[in-house]
Amino acid sequence: MPGSKAPGCPVVTYDHTALRPIMGHFAELDDLRAGSPVWWNELEPGFWMFTTHDLVQEALQTPAIFSSESQSVFHPDPPQRFIPTHLDPPAHGMYRRVLNPLFTPRAVEKLRPMASDVCARLIGEIAPRGHCDFMAAFGLEYPTEVFLRMVGLPVADAPSFLKWVETFFVGHYGTDKQPIIDAAASIKNYFADVVADRRQHPREPNTDFVTYLLQSTVDDRPLSDEEVLDICFVLVLAGLDTTKSQMGYLMYQLATHPEDRRRLVAHRELIPNAVEESLRASSIIAGVGRKVAADTDFHGCPLKMGDMVLLSVAAANRDPNVFDRPGAFLLERGPTRHLGFIVGPHRCLGAHLARAEMAVLLEEWHRRIPDYRLADGTDMLERGGGFAPLTLPLVWDA
Ligand code: HEM
Repeated sequence: MPGSKAPGCPVVTYDHTALRPIMGHFAELDDLRAGSPVWWNELEPGFWMFTTHDLVQEALQTPAIFSSESQSVFHPDPPQRFIPTHLDPPAHGMYRRVLNPLFTPRAVEKLRPMASDVCARLIGEIAPRGHCDFMAAFGLEYPTEVFLRMVGLPVADAPSFLKWVETFFVGHYGTDKQPIIDAAASIKNYFADVVADRRQHPREPNTDFVTYLLQSTVDDRPLSDEEVLDICFVLVLAGLDTTKSQMGYLMYQLATHPEDRRRLVAHRELIPNAVEESLRASSIIAGVGRKVAADTDFHGCPLKMGDMVLLSVAAANRDPNVFDRPGAFLLERGPTRHLGFIVGPHRCLGAHLARAEMAVLLEEWHRRIPDYRLADGTDMLERGGGFAPLTLPLVWDA
C-alpha cells in the first residue's frame, strides 16, 4: 500500500493546491523546510514531501527511483500517459531528441523579434487605459500568440486557446470538473484536425510544427498521429499558463517594490537577473510529483514502491543552505542553481523560450509603462497547484 510513513517522520496536512493570500504558500513552504527536509503529507491519498534543495535536486536526477510514470501526487495511476512528461529514460530521451532542436537558445533567439512585436502591440492596446488586471488582460494572450506563431498555427485561433487553457487551470477550483474535461477534449480535437490536415497537406517543416513532428522519427519509425497529438497537448498545457503565472509574480514584485523597478528601468542589463530571481524566489512550481519505482532508503526515508513524492521546487528554491537571504528578490544576484525549470531528464523544454518571453515583457512594458503600482485596496489571492496570482490589478498614469 502506498502511504506508509516512517516512524519519526514529521506529519503535516498541507494543501499546495489551496487558495492563499499572495505569497502565502511560499511562507508556509519556508516553515515546512525549516521544520524538516522530509514530511509525510496526510492530504489524501497521502504522499511524501521533500523540501530542501539537495534532496529535491538529487531526486530529480535519479529517475530510476523517482519515476515520472505519475506526476500528480493525487493520481498515482493516471488514466492517460502523455509524451514526453510521463516517460522515463531511455524512452523519454528519444522524444526529447525530436523536440529539443526547436527550443534551443539559438532557435529561441530567432523568435525574439516576433515576441517583441506581439508584446509591444498588446501593451500598446492596454497602455492608454491607465489600469488593467495583468493576469486577465495580458498574461495569457501574450504567450499564447507567441506560441501559435512559433508553431505555425493561425493567430485567429487564439481566443479558443485562451478559453480552453483558462478553463483547464482555473476550473480546478470548481466542484464541477466537466468544464475541465470539455476543455481538454477541445484542445485534443483541435489538434486532431490539424494532424489530419497535415497528413493530407504537409507544410514546410521549418515553420509548421505539426508537419515537423509527422516527418520525425523515434527508434527508426515515424511518430504516430496519437503521439503527435499527445505532444501538442502537453505543449499547450505546459507552456501557456506557466508563463502567465511566472510573469504574474515578476510583475507583482516590481509593482510592489518601486526601487527595484526604477533600477531595472535605468539598467536594462539587469533584466535577466530579474527573470531568474522571479523563477527562484517565487517559483510557480509548488512541486513536481514522482512515483517511487523501487523500495529505497533515501537519506533515511524508507520509500516504498508505488509511494508518491512531491519534490517541492518552490521550497528548494528558497533554501538558506544554498541561497543567501533566500526570501529576498535581489537584482544583483547573478545566475543561481535554482530549480525553477527543474534539472534532470524532464528539465523544462521551453525554459529558453519562457526566459526570453519574460525578458521581452520587461523591456517592452517598461518602455511604454515605466511607472506602475498595485491598485489601492487590493486583496490579492494566490492560486495553488501551479502557483499564480489570481488577479494582478495594476494602475499607472496613462
Ligand atoms: C515560466 C514558465 C515555465 C515554467 C516555470 C516551466 C516549468 C517546467 C517544469 C518545472 C517542468 C518539469 C515538470 C516535471 O517534470 O514534472 C517543465 C516541463 C516542461 N515544460 Fe515547462 N515551464 C515553463 C514554460 C514552458 C514553455 C513556454 C514551454 C513550451 C512552449 C514549456 C514546455 C514544457 C514541456 C514540453 C515540458 C515537459 C518536458 C519533459 O517531460 O521532458 N514550458 N516545465
